Amino acid sequence: MLRTKIAGIGYYVPEKVVTNHDLTKVMDTTDEWIQERTGIVERRYGKKHEETTTTMAARAAEVAIERAGISKEDIDFIIFATLSPDFYFPGCGVLLQRELGITNSEAGALDIRNQCSGFVYGLSVGDQFVRSGMYKNILLVGSEMHSMGLDFSTRGRNVTVIFGDGAGAVILQPTEEEGRGILSTALHSDGTYAEKLAFVCPGAHGGYHDKYIEETPDYGFPDVEYGEMFITERMMETGMLFPNMEGQFVFKMAVQKFPEVILETLDKAGLKKEDINMLIPHQANLRISQFVQRRMGLRDDQIWNNIQKFGNTTAASIPIALCEAVEAGAVKKGDVVCLAAFGSGFTWGGAVIRW
Ligand code: UT7
Repeated sequence: MLRTKIAGIGYYVPEKVVTNHDLTKVMDTTDEWIQERTGIVERRYGKKHEETTTTMAARAAEVAIERAGISKEDIDFIIFATLSPDFYFPGCGVLLQRELGITNSEAGALDIRNQCSGFVYGLSVGDQFVRSGMYKNILLVGSEMHSMGLDFSTRGRNVTVIFGDGAGAVILQPTEEEGRGILSTALHSDGTYAEKLAFVCPGAHGGYHDKYIEETPDYGFPDVEYGEMFITERMMETGMLFPNMEGQFVFKMAVQKFPEVILETLDKAGLKKEDINMLIPHQANLRISQFVQRRMGLRDDQIWNNIQKFGNTTAASIPIALCEAVEAGAVKKGDVVCLAAFGSGFTWGGAVIRW
């Protein structure tokens, strides 16, 4: 039976380390608050003018390509997941193709806008393409340069302290090795709460979506005029130029959806929670991961957390964590690896892989 395997994996994080103490110099926050509520100690920020979401993705991709033992010209499809693209359009997929120097115009490039679950969505899409026989070497990346789009005033502290920059990449290939590869994936969404974790400006909404957010009046959309889709004074004043999050609401949904989707994905693969060798949760908040760990009855060595040093890198967090776990020898051939993510949208999803 044809399945999809991860043939190579790599990650890249920028050199610049930003500690919680560094953030206390620009906003009203404390190291204690951040560590206690999120587990985060430090995160990385890309180098302005030199690094972008695309360049970080290219560095991660180069490692994944080398480890897969292929050449970049072998890549027949690119899937790029990010919420912090270099441009509003075109998407990062083609920018990555150019950055890697891939001149093969037969290769398609697809951009995925599913925020924290972007990598899992990309994995599922890539899996379908590989199993159908359409593509043989898919480059899937999750990359984020959050630091360029955060509010560094106290107004944005509940969001800004959480996020960090980085990229992770995998090469997806077909395998006929019995029982190996991606065993199952599950994808979900519920747009009811789209504004609970959102970055709405710039956008073409023109104020329309106000009708959906009556219960959170502070969130009001700026009443944008024709031709004002991009940055305006009003957006600056209202703070809508930055991501907004109702943290507690998102937290409550996350701790419900993570266990649900993990059990669903395991069930689809004909497995039980006792079969998990390694759980790689999206690194949203260490408290969320710890809750999920307890709910799944996993030991500390059955879950990988790195949010302490990288923060929440959204679409990049799962491939970075998975790559670290593989490099550390914590994921070995034959292991059952479970991936799970939940985030803005809301969208959530899971995958079970026999490594
Ligand atoms: O990855 C995508 C999905 N995202 C998530 O899963 C995130 C889920 N949510 C969370 O992780 C948490 O809700 C946060 C870490 C974002 C916030 O933690 P919380 O315990 O829910 O705090 P809160 O938002 O309820 O705020 C509690 C207090 C407030 O002060 P008052 O009103 O009680 O006086 C905030 O103003 O903490 C204040 N606060 C801060 N204080 C110091 C908010 N952010 C900060 C900060 N430093 N950075």
